[in-house]
Amino acid sequence: MRGLNGKVGIVAGGGRGIGAATARRLAEEGAHVVIGDLMGDWAREVADDIKSKGGKALGVDLNGTDADSQAAIVAAAVETFGGLDFYHSNLAGGTEGDIDALNCPVEVLDKSFAINTKSHFLATQAALPKIIERGGGAMIYTSSGAAAGGAAWQVAYPMTKNAIHALARHVASRWGKQGVRANVICPGLVLTEAVKQHLTDDYVVKGLKAIPHTRLGQPDDIAAAVTFLASSDGEWVNGQVWHVNGGTLQRD
Ligand SMILES: NC(=O)c1ccc[n+]([C@@H]2O[C@H](COP(=O)([O-])OP(=O)(O)OC[C@H]3O[C@@H](n4cnc5c(N)ncnc54)[C@H](O)[C@@H]3O)[C@@H](O)[C@H]2O)c1
Repeated sequence: MRGLNGKVGIVAGGGRGIGAATARRLAEEGAHVVIGDLMGDWAREVADDIKSKGGKALGVDLNGTDADSQAAIVAAAVETFGGLDFYHSNLAGGTEGDIDALNCPVEVLDKSFAINTKSHFLATQAALPKIIERGGGAMIYTSSGAAAGGAAWQVAYPMTKNAIHALARHVASRWGKQGVRANVICPGLVLTEAVKQHLTDDYVVKGLKAIPHTRLGQPDDIAAAVTFLASSDGEWVNGQVWHVNGGTLQRD
């Protein structure tokens, strides 16, 4: 893809799954990647793997819900690679106890909000000044098809994911004239290591029946879309929410 060679980007929640695949793909395209994760060792392992293949990467500890930690990962990108061009805010969690609205404890909602909404706001506050300093760049947020689907079994995750869409549209509108693009990717079911651990054969059969495609999603499918949005090939895409899901949920 055009324009990624030598560009500097952060992948938050890049220690495994979609984030790790995205960090690897970005590095293959020539980007210098800082990988942050609550599990710092996972982030360092992904960075080591990228470096062993000739790429440029750094793995660091990140608690995305903490403003100082977000400031530190941005500082690490600037110190190590000289600036910041894009930030993929991808981390998520806090789904334990997240059930229907009459039974979901408020503490579960608070935790989900901290991980799935506030972390993206803090990432934006930390990254934008540096991206603007470079004359523009990209914020790419990971949401979920669950934000649009109407999930009967779960309230907090879809609520907090929807808030990211508003954040991206705000950033796109407010800083577009300064060269900043902000977009959201909503993955469908993606067979990450963590998802595969809980997947039954029955669920795979049902998932395949529900999707107008030949297969379920892989982390690389999402990595490709994120990389496109970070690249110059995606330079006229701004303020959009993209569903990347093999056609499971079809939206305007
Ligand atoms: N896998 C899917 O089927 C699927 C579907 C829809 C949306 N998504 C979204 O895609 C993104 C990635 O999902 P995944 O399946 O790869 O998840 P994952 O659980 O495999 O990876 C998430 C990573 O984020 C890290 N993390 C969690 N909380 C953190 C925090 N506070 N600070 C820093 N790092 C933290 C975890 O340690 C983990 O490495 C998430 O935003 C998720 O909601 C995934």
